[in-house]
Amino acid sequence: MSPHRRILVTSALPYANGPIHIGHLVEYIQTDIWVRYQKMRGHECWYVCADDAHGTAIMLRAEQEGVTPEALIDQVWASHRRDFAGFNVAFDNYHTTHSPENRAISALIYTRLRDAGHTAVRTIRQAYDPLKQLFLPDRFIRGTCPRCAAPDQYGDNCEQCGGTYAPTDLIDAVSALSGVPPVQRESEHVFFCLGHFEAVLRDWLTRSDLQPGVVNKLEEWFAVGLQDWDISRDAPYFGFEIPDLPGKYFYVWLDAPIGYFASFRHLCDRVGLDFETFVKPQSTTELYHFIGKDIMYFHTLFWPAMLHGANFRLPTNVFVHGFLTVDGQKMSKSRGTFITARTYLDHLNPECLRYYFAAKLGPGIDDIDLNLEDFQARVNADLVGKVVNIASRCAAFIRRDFGGNLAADDDEPALLASLRAAREDIAHCFEARDYARAMREVMALADRVNQYIDRRKPWVIAKDPSARAELARVCSTGLRAFRLLMIYLKPVVPALVAEAERFLRCAPLTWAALDLALPPQEIAPFTPLLTRIEKAKVEAMLDASKPTVPNPSGTPPPAPAGTTLAPPASASGVAEVPEVPEIGIDDFAKVDLRIARVTTARHVEGADKLVQLELDVGGEQRTVFAGIKQAYAPAALEGRLVVLVANLAPRKMRFGLSQGMVLAASGSESGIFLLNADAGALPGMRVK
Ligand code: 2FM
Ligand code: ZN
Repeated sequence: MSPHRRILVTSALPYANGPIHIGHLVEYIQTDIWVRYQKMRGHECWYVCADDAHGTAIMLRAEQEGVTPEALIDQVWASHRRDFAGFNVAFDNYHTTHSPENRAISALIYTRLRDAGHTAVRTIRQAYDPLKQLFLPDRFIRGTCPRCAAPDQYGDNCEQCGGTYAPTDLIDAVSALSGVPPVQRESEHVFFCLGHFEAVLRDWLTRSDLQPGVVNKLEEWFAVGLQDWDISRDAPYFGFEIPDLPGKYFYVWLDAPIGYFASFRHLCDRVGLDFETFVKPQSTTELYHFIGKDIMYFHTLFWPAMLHGANFRLPTNVFVHGFLTVDGQKMSKSRGTFITARTYLDHLNPECLRYYFAAKLGPGIDDIDLNLEDFQARVNADLVGKVVNIASRCAAFIRRDFGGNLAADDDEPALLASLRAAREDIAHCFEARDYARAMREVMALADRVNQYIDRRKPWVIAKDPSARAELARVCSTGLRAFRLLMIYLKPVVPALVAEAERFLRCAPLTWAALDLALPPQEIAPFTPLLTRIEKAKVEAMLDASKPTVPNPSGTPPPAPAGTTLAPPASASGVAEVPEVPEIGIDDFAKVDLRIARVTTARHVEGADKLVQLELDVGGEQRTVFAGIKQAYAPAALEGRLVVLVANLAPRKMRFGLSQGMVLAASGSESGIFLLNADAGALPGMRVK
């Protein structure tokens, strides 16, 4: 038994002025998988987050929309919560930095830092917009780059040449808010003396197990020297007023990380936990922050220094991940790859993205790529083709022949033992956030189970009336193996596994459930736990993510006289149905449709599209060449039911005689989908 751990985990707080998109989701899914894994291990693990609700950008956005900042952040908070819930990201608490808890802890940390002499007040000169009457953050000043003369660049860096500079160096600078040239104005600001903490931070660096990429960055920053940090902003500002400095506000980045503690405080008050135990110096609990690489400076320098200076514990570790690219490029609105969480959910299953991100995420800080073709292929091949397929291959026999009751004994206990033997390895991968490796291991185990089923061929055993017990044992072994895989996959695809728990009629799976056996109980009828991703759905999602050209009148354009409007594009992505003449029931009765079971499926030498299927049509054997190779790997077909046009005249092909045709749905782009039969259908049955 591993010792019981008490763990507090956070993800970065999203700004309260825009929607959650798939770039954000990398981090929330990464964190959620880690937290779910810890909970499955039986540890006490609390996952908190909040909206980052303060700052100039949010204040101006609210102004633009004609609402108060409070109204804006309330509305965004509700939408963020909906989006996270849609992706099964299960926070224990989701708060906001604009909360009484955050106000209190920010004031406490600030006064402790001030009283210990870690702040300094200095007068600085800053760009001021005389028209809007506010000091301008660097991002709100535009002008010509002093290095390369590119026009319309930001106040702190040039997107053309990459140069960085002070806003006062910009040529012909103007305020992005009003268009007038900013003036220089003096103002008193509070600084946090980061340099006081160099020794503390160096010590923290050596004691924590930071990622190598993070350590390198910190070494670089130490070499350059730690600068004082400006933690105040002048009114007007949406944030917390500094207790002893009326008209001055905490800079958004001061109270944002404190928002982690504030959200946790809110949770503690809600469920009766002791806050101090988790945040006091020398706490024996663990504290982890998951963040993106762009905000490392705040989390590995400012935040630990603030914590130490205000007499709080330091983070146990900060886990940094890279950015998301889509098809190898930055997310882009015009390409339709700036995909919001909501748009994704409108078209696709969240479990698919969770699995794909898991399959891509390693422990490092490298960027990860969402390649949309690979996404579709990988989810279809792994989750649907390998994992869910195990259950569908075995469940039908158990329901049909044994009233849903599993056998007491297993056919091959060694298979189950080998699946259990991977537990330490997979556990280590989850703990180390090497989900890509964990998923590779789980899929290798799924391959092993499918090979077992291929070898034991339950559909062949099923034909032998004297082998009932054997059939039950083989299928029960397959389903017990499936259950073990579900345990390993539960942190990644929790909703899929919840469905599997319902189907297996077992208690919520935990890591310790690896030691349990699935008793010879009755299972529920099998319904597909996950269906394949269709290309048309991915394309519809991209289309929905592209900017729409606004129509000034807001009404659809009238059709030119004498024409009819084209039918609207099909929202379901299903290809238009061509005109087919009507037939009577007698015509239809001429088609002999039969249920068949694929006993063997093989590649056809020299044929790109064909798979050779050996079919059992209720005692009769048929060979059919089917053009389905692009959609199905032969191994995944063995054992499944198909619908056969049994009285189609045999066709002589280059590769042999094809004795019928199997039915499949297909659209021009969306792929090929074989027709299936519900559990209980038997080979040879007539379809009508
Ligand atoms: O970069 C961002 O999106 C910030 N809102 C993250 C804040 S994380 C924490 F410090 F609050
Ligand atoms: Zn430049």
